[in-house]
Amino acid sequence: MKTVTLTVNNRPHTLTPSPERTLLDVLREDLGLTGAKRGCDAGECGACTVLLNGKPVNSCLVLAVELSGAAVVTIEGLGGPDGLDRLQQSFIDNFALQCGYCTPGMILMGKALLMQNPHPTEAEVKEFISGNLCRCTGYENIVKAIMAVAGGGEGNG
Ligand code: FES
Ligand code: FES
Repeated sequence: MKTVTLTVNNRPHTLTPSPERTLLDVLREDLGLTGAKRGCDAGECGACTVLLNGKPVNSCLVLAVELSGAAVVTIEGLGGPDGLDRLQQSFIDNFALQCGYCTPGMILMGKALLMQNPHPTEAEVKEFISGNLCRCTGYENIVKAIMAVAGGGEGNG
């Protein structure tokens, strides 16, 4: 089996995944990073979104064997109880989650958008997250949470 070295949340890992295993499998089952959720397992819901080399991907569609040299960021890499990322805090402040299943993916989509476009319009936020499904919130507060950080004028750290 092919050996793959990559970083996840800036930590190096060496893996020997079997060919059919996905990035989502490896994150959740091998590395214990369960923030990325398994929803549809077919690229339809966005619950498994992580950043791969700075770009959002559906980790259920990425084969682990293709990840040599990759840099992956999951929700655990943004912040935790000791210090939340501004976008995580904004989701809390704006009541942008209910069950929370979509939330890691939504936050990472917001992060990706703000990295490439620090001051998006509301329409651009809606368009960017349109592939990520939320069954609870009606999306309004999610958009508000992202816009609140976008309008902050201090970057998006
Ligand atoms: S679990 Fe990957 S897109 Fe739904
Ligand atoms: S908060 Fe439940 S799916 Fe979005």
